[in-house]
Amino acid sequence: MKKQFLDLGKQPIANGFISNGDNSDEYFFDLKVGFDDETKLVSLMEFVQLDKMFNDDYAYKASMSNTMREHFKKAAKKFKKQFDPKHILEIGSNDGVFLKNFSNTDTLAVEPCGNFSKITNEMGYKTYNEFWDLDLAKKILENHNKRDLIFSANCICHIPELEECFESISKVLSPEGVFIFEDPSLEKMIERVSYDQIYDEHAHVFSVTALNNILNKFSLSIFKVEELNVHGGSNRIYVCHSGKRKIDSSVQNLLDREHRAGLDSFDTYVNFAKEVEESKNNLIETLTKYKQQNKKIVSYGATSKSTTVFNYCNIGTDLIDYIIDTTPSKQGKLSPGKHIPIFAPEKFNSSVDIAFLGAWNFVDEICKKEKLFLDRGGVFVTHIKGNE
Ligand code: TYD
Repeated sequence: MKKQFLDLGKQPIANGFISNGDNSDEYFFDLKVGFDDETKLVSLMEFVQLDKMFNDDYAYKASMSNTMREHFKKAAKKFKKQFDPKHILEIGSNDGVFLKNFSNTDTLAVEPCGNFSKITNEMGYKTYNEFWDLDLAKKILENHNKRDLIFSANCICHIPELEECFESISKVLSPEGVFIFEDPSLEKMIERVSYDQIYDEHAHVFSVTALNNILNKFSLSIFKVEELNVHGGSNRIYVCHSGKRKIDSSVQNLLDREHRAGLDSFDTYVNFAKEVEESKNNLIETLTKYKQQNKKIVSYGATSKSTTVFNYCNIGTDLIDYIIDTTPSKQGKLSPGKHIPIFAPEKFNSSVDIAFLGAWNFVDEICKKEKLFLDRGGVFVTHIKGNE
């Protein structure tokens, strides 16, 4: 049974940027989070209808940061070397940032956002503009070979019906095939109090413990886990049909560590909820203090994560003048819910004193890029433990 432990209040669609100042039909929902004591899965109490989030205007473009382009290039190289896959499938291919590292002869893609499936189709990768489910798995099997590599980054945690998702994967995965996916780590979220990993799209935040419990129901086994720095700390999970591969020691190590961190116990989440509230109070206090000193405060990166922070903490243009973001389709729009204007990075000029790190997960890339800002006494503010 799923038991609620956190209430992040009324929230808009995290990537629902507002065009032409028209917010008349902006959608809000209750962002509440729960823990399932059978599977140990952390999920939203109520899922948002998929087509409200993933549609032809979807704003998040994975190749917008150098960190992610390099990350996927390295991953592709590693998988080719290790598994030499011939029949590949990516679930949630976005703008092709991973796929483009593979030949398009037998590489399939699944991408429900039409603006992105169009891009990868034009790149020559057969892209199904649909949500991943049993019907699509069946269609793929009718038209193609089973897949010997199925990859998915920052997408499986978006899928509310996790059991159907894994069942569909077990059907399409060849007997010796590998399914590799990466998503933000629950352990890191708890450690860093990065509650902004929670928003409409993140139907679940995964522990290895919960994934192991659910995958096993479909005779799938995790045979390796790699810890990644991207997206504020993620796990890359390697899965095969049960009994097909030797299980690496990383799996038990992670399971043991998660047990020690209490990720299988409801009390841990009750404590987390208290830390979230403290984090909110601290952030409001910090920004208010700077505002009272007449500092100009902006936000760096119009992220989904910052949608959660600003709406939960009720931070709007009273504290943040504007947001800057490199993504052209976000510029000139207003942020979801709090309606803070978004501009191109050129606005990050010498008039800015303080920058809230909306894209705190790219802190290294940003600090390197914004050396001038730091040298002239500019301050980055973050609510993330360990990043201060
Ligand atoms: P990300 O953290 O992946 O977002 P989300 O919380 O939505 O998953 O996205 C980073 C955002 O920050 C993206 O819109 C691009 C932007 N960005 C900048 O504007 N400048 C930068 O230097 C970097 C690294 C990202």
